[in-house]
Amino acid sequence: MGLISNTTRLFDFCADTYLSEDHCWGGDLDTIHSYLSQFDKPDVLDLGCGTGWHLATILLRFRSRLGTVVGLDYSAGMLNTASNYLNKLGWNSEKPRYEVTLIRGNALAIPFRSRSFDIILLLNNTLGNISAPTFKEAAGYRLKVLKDVFDLLKPGGYLILTVYNADKLDSEDISGKHFRLDRGISDLSNFDLVRTHYKYGIQFYSHWFTESEVAPILFTAGYSIIETEQRRKRIVVVAQRS
Ligand SMILES: C[S@@+](CC[C@H](N)C(=O)[O-])C[C@H]1O[C@@H](n2cnc3c(N)ncnc32)[C@H](O)[C@@H]1O
Repeated sequence: MGLISNTTRLFDFCADTYLSEDHCWGGDLDTIHSYLSQFDKPDVLDLGCGTGWHLATILLRFRSRLGTVVGLDYSAGMLNTASNYLNKLGWNSEKPRYEVTLIRGNALAIPFRSRSFDIILLLNNTLGNISAPTFKEAAGYRLKVLKDVFDLLKPGGYLILTVYNADKLDSEDISGKHFRLDRGISDLSNFDLVRTHYKYGIQFYSHWFTESEVAPILFTAGYSIIETEQRRKRIVVVAQRS
């Protein structure tokens, strides 16, 4: 399908317009801030950090009370946008107010040791965008990422996960202002969507999740689920390595 490289290319191209095309951004901020405030100097990883704005809000609110802060993404375009954004705010610059480490890497091979982080963020359907040669393999990759994240959390640490809510999938999401569904390739019965972005002419993959699907994969990966909430088009889950 070439979906892996196409999905990466799409994120490279849409890095500058990404936030303006997402009408649900920010719906998870209160949860993130509330769990961060439970820690003294938490070490934080934003996996699939995209444009870096979650990192920016965390730094704005918690900067004197943070440990290591890392953003990892495989899209050079996204990381470039994140770096420019954080530089403008005075971070990640030559004389940083607080240093954020931005790493280009793959969520399937995260370059950190076990038990490195107090909080790991996997937001705005990054988990559902992890693509593979087949939909079945993509499901396997999702489980692998959740298991690897579990291993990277310190005991007591939290995964904050937001994914697209399949119950809220509507015709605008399927073929709307920005995307058109490729029906021949997609499997709507399993919420595996391949859509083409009109502006860039690129096909990309996203899996949408039902609430009843999320809990079993988190349990299989070893987590306890602390809370789950449906918010607008997202499911927001807090899971713990207890
Ligand atoms: C839907 S965006 C979400 C970005 C950000 N977390 C947010 O909430 O705005 C998904 C991000 O995950 C990244 N991504 C997708 N698959 C990845 C992988 N296998 N490894 C690393 N990053 C990945 C994309 O480049 C993109 O920046």
